[in-house]
Amino acid sequence: MSSPSRELRAAGAGSPAAQPAAEPVVEVQGVEHAYGHGRSAVVAVGPVDLTIEPGEFVVLVGASGCGKSTLLRLVAGFETPTSGAVRVGGRTPVPGRDAGLVFQQPRLFPWRTVGGNIELALRYKGLPRDQRVARRDELLTRVGLPDIADRRVWEISGGQQQRVAIARALAVDSPLLLLDEPFAALDALTRERLQEDVRRVSAEPGRTSVFVTHSVDEAVFLGSRVVVLSKRPGRVALDLEVDLPRAGVDPDDLRLLPEFAAARTEIAHAVRSAAA
Ligand SMILES: Nc1ncnc2c1ncn2[C@@H]1O[C@H](COP(=O)(O)OP(=O)(O)O)[C@@H](O)[C@H]1O
Ligand SMILES: [Mg+2]
Repeated sequence: MSSPSRELRAAGAGSPAAQPAAEPVVEVQGVEHAYGHGRSAVVAVGPVDLTIEPGEFVVLVGASGCGKSTLLRLVAGFETPTSGAVRVGGRTPVPGRDAGLVFQQPRLFPWRTVGGNIELALRYKGLPRDQRVARRDELLTRVGLPDIADRRVWEISGGQQQRVAIARALAVDSPLLLLDEPFAALDALTRERLQEDVRRVSAEPGRTSVFVTHSVDEAVFLGSRVVVLSKRPGRVALDLEVDLPRAGVDPDDLRLLPEFAAARTEIAHAVRSAAA
């Protein structure tokens, strides 16, 4: 299926990092996924077709239990689809290689320091210690935490822990970042700050992000494209290009634009009818 917005995307509009001839980062083709077998099988997702180009920030929205996490786990390579194909960078995804992941809970090792958590992720890459330390410090700076490498995980706030989890996901060094309701457990103010962090990180050249949320506001604020899933088994109910004038606009002003309100209304309607 080809909508006008998809053709615009194919031409590279709306995503500065995209080249007209660039390979898609993520290809989900005719994917269905069921848990269990036979009569007890639960079909969680599909069929879904989704192609994500370099530089896109795709937000998945949908009711609880509609299959958002399953779709993300398929893209990460943690699950193999029951039918259809998932490709990341043209290949079957391998967990830990093809995407950085951020979950609802930070999932840091509490007995390690902040820096130790990041270094652990870098150790898998076979970097020597001095390079690991330099890279660790660079990653923590990118998420706005330049001076806390020696702190213990339990000494820092929930918001800071989630920033560390984002830095750890960036340590994977994959152009693809997958985030599954990463701010759901945070208070509203911290959440807005972290949204700005994620927006900054995802605007880095060559970065592609897929972000799951319940919040329509968060979806409009972050997404260059918002995909609404139907209730289980999750299918694409709306695929909307969100074209806000983001460059140089203060985040608080962005939320007040009429275009922001219009996108919010369209998505909220789709979420409501998709859940019915
Ligand atoms: N490991 C699993 N085993 C069996 N059923 C599962 C498993 N994970 C998820 N499900 C079921 O699949 C459906 C989709 O779940 P999920 O992808 O977690 O949805 P969402 O993230 O949108 O809330 C739900 O009905 C859920 O109960
Ligand atoms: Mg989920």
